[in-house]
Amino acid sequence: MSDNDRENKPGQDAEAQFTPEMNPPDRDLPAPEGEVVKTGGFLRRFLDMPADNTAKTVAVALGLCLVASMFVSAAAVSLRPLQERNAALDKQVNIVQVAGLYEDGIDVAEAFDAFEPHVLEMATGEFADGAEIEGQVLDPLTFDDRAAAEDLTLSAPLDDDPASIGRQANYVTVYLLRNEDGSLDKVILPVYGYGLWSTLYGFIAIEEDGNTIYGLQFYEHAETPGLGAEVDNPRWKALWNEKLLRTDGGDGELAITVAKTAPPAGPEYHVDALSGATLTSRGVDNLIRFWLSERGFEPFLERVREGEI
Ligand SMILES: Cc1cc2nc3c(=O)[nH]c(=O)nc-3n(C[C@H](O)[C@H](O)[C@H](O)COP(=O)(O)O)c2cc1C
Repeated sequence: MSDNDRENKPGQDAEAQFTPEMNPPDRDLPAPEGEVVKTGGFLRRFLDMPADNTAKTVAVALGLCLVASMFVSAAAVSLRPLQERNAALDKQVNIVQVAGLYEDGIDVAEAFDAFEPHVLEMATGEFADGAEIEGQVLDPLTFDDRAAAEDLTLSAPLDDDPASIGRQANYVTVYLLRNEDGSLDKVILPVYGYGLWSTLYGFIAIEEDGNTIYGLQFYEHAETPGLGAEVDNPRWKALWNEKLLRTDGGDGELAITVAKTAPPAGPEYHVDALSGATLTSRGVDNLIRFWLSERGFEPFLERVREGEI
């Protein structure tokens, strides 16, 4: 066997083939003293940094913030449809409640089917269902009142603004409740305005005479619990039942008032202000008197009184 044959013998350890001239691997030799051994990539070096290293602390904090914000964003996006469904259901519950149809355990969606929604043109008091405004079709099932109040083509700014709402929508959704024979039972109208800390959103139910209040209910506000939030107290809400909006059977002046004392028109136009919450009460007074005025639902309520609805 020649020397050459011996070097290429199959199965022979490859390392044995290195010659000093070929610089064999020195992995088994200890690292020279003081030299940092780079055994991994960037991550390895990062992990090997001391725990009190400023750059490492900042990087870990930033990384945690990034991961947490990704979780929060993902949760917000994935839960949005559920939130919107719940908000719509909450609104339906309130419409059913203010009309006096709510009982524990009822199927709210089924109860809500009894209501007839319409998009109302505020200025004329006429229904505008299906009308096309600036390319938008006014569908009572999907019309978004809050979005409309901010839409420059569907709303107008208010110079005199007692309810502190900034802009008023030209169109809003109203709900009719009819008796079995098709005659009108009640109209449910959306109202909102500023209290002390927040905008209060609610519905007022008016009887078929277009002048007698059946109920008032807020479904969203941020007034103080125990003070302004007493607008949700059933005993205070009950005060609204049977109160009248206008004098002379509806043809006179708007007289309904939330105040500490009754107005000259008489107690049937008076709802007692909440004690300890005069400012929220004043906000409710302002918003009710705004929405039931000529600039609000009066053109529509006049049609209700005339029996046109
Ligand atoms: C922390 C705090 C929260 C308050 N929240 C309300 C409120 O939600 N609505 C309100 O009208 N007044 C609220 N007030 C009270 C008002 O500052 C004011 O005193 C009250 O409206 C006067 O009502 P009164 O004349 O019936 O006493 C709050 C006061 C404090 C200190």
